[in-house]
Amino acid sequence: MSATIVSDKNLHYPVLLKEVLNIISPQNGGTYIDCTFGQGGYSKKILEFPDTKVIALDRDPKSKTIAIKFKKKFKDRFDFHNRKFSDLDKIRLPKKINGIIFDLGFSYSQIKDYSKGLSFNSKGKLNMKMGLNKISADDVIKKLSVTQLELIFKLFGEEEKAKQISKKIIKERLLKDIKTEDLVRIINLSKQNFTKKNKATKIFQALRILVNNEISELVSALSKSCNIVSDNGVIAIVTFHSIEDRICKFFFNSITSSKSVSRYLPISKSEEFYFKLINKKVITPTHEEIDANPPSRSAKLRSIKRHGIEKIETKFLSEKFEKLLEIEKTCSKL
Ligand SMILES: C[S@@+](CC[C@H](N)C(=O)[O-])C[C@H]1O[C@@H](n2cnc3c(N)ncnc32)[C@H](O)[C@@H]1O
Repeated sequence: MSATIVSDKNLHYPVLLKEVLNIISPQNGGTYIDCTFGQGGYSKKILEFPDTKVIALDRDPKSKTIAIKFKKKFKDRFDFHNRKFSDLDKIRLPKKINGIIFDLGFSYSQIKDYSKGLSFNSKGKLNMKMGLNKISADDVIKKLSVTQLELIFKLFGEEEKAKQISKKIIKERLLKDIKTEDLVRIINLSKQNFTKKNKATKIFQALRILVNNEISELVSALSKSCNIVSDNGVIAIVTFHSIEDRICKFFFNSITSSKSVSRYLPISKSEEFYFKLINKKVITPTHEEIDANPPSRSAKLRSIKRHGIEKIETKFLSEKFEKLLEIEKTCSKL
């Protein structure tokens, strides 16, 4: 889900902002990479502290408009790259990076942009592209087999009615072009709802993950980040669904603890850990924040701090999530 809201006064603010700032400590200055610039909520707060610099990335070309304003105001303290965060290692970076932050998912402005089709209220051609994509949700619904659809709905959406919904999609697509409103109708007819969540939440999540290759993006960016951040630097990440959180939790635990998953690390390194968990328990929004911004309820913040400069071997992460990565790759080849 989205990390950002627009209040009654149309003010945009990001989820867990205070908590993220506490972890990265920009009051001491330093250079930070904001991997999910969005509307610049985190970047702005960091840049309000003197002696800070931000290198921002966002895959959505629309973020450029806000980035141009930042550039005018903060000049050489700010740089923006319209790139995916899996490209982190392809950007020219200074030697010292004090922190790398991620606020995953999509922004309020993206969900309100109905042409992106991320909202259940969107109409027309299925889309769900956040930017710099190869495929759209329209391609997925038109071209995947019934088995592939069922698989992605089950694995990426944890949807119990994956089979029924996939079968209905295949039946209907023989007769007509399935638009966003048709997909919502198919889902609504297939499901009863016992929770407050919209019935289409899980299927939309599954399609969004596939269209935006969210699993490989995250696995790749995490693996690269831990060798980019400097000694004493931090990585902080806000996730919004269980798959993202599972990947982060596993990765952070693996590189910070000898107990949990050391079998995935090279034997010679298994007793040496160059990262420490900053918050042992996951941080979630306060009741006040959830009241003010209900979509923040699924946010989870995890963070680690680097100690030393030794290169970390990260292949174990893609090996652990091999199955999900393979499905994402195969189903994206349309
Ligand atoms: C929740 S918003 C971030 C909001 C931001 N923290 C703020 O305060 O305005 C997530 C942003 O991440 C971007 N994003 C998602 N996946 C990305 C990826 N793989 N690479 C780069 N940007 C990505 C989206 O386009 C969106 O703008």
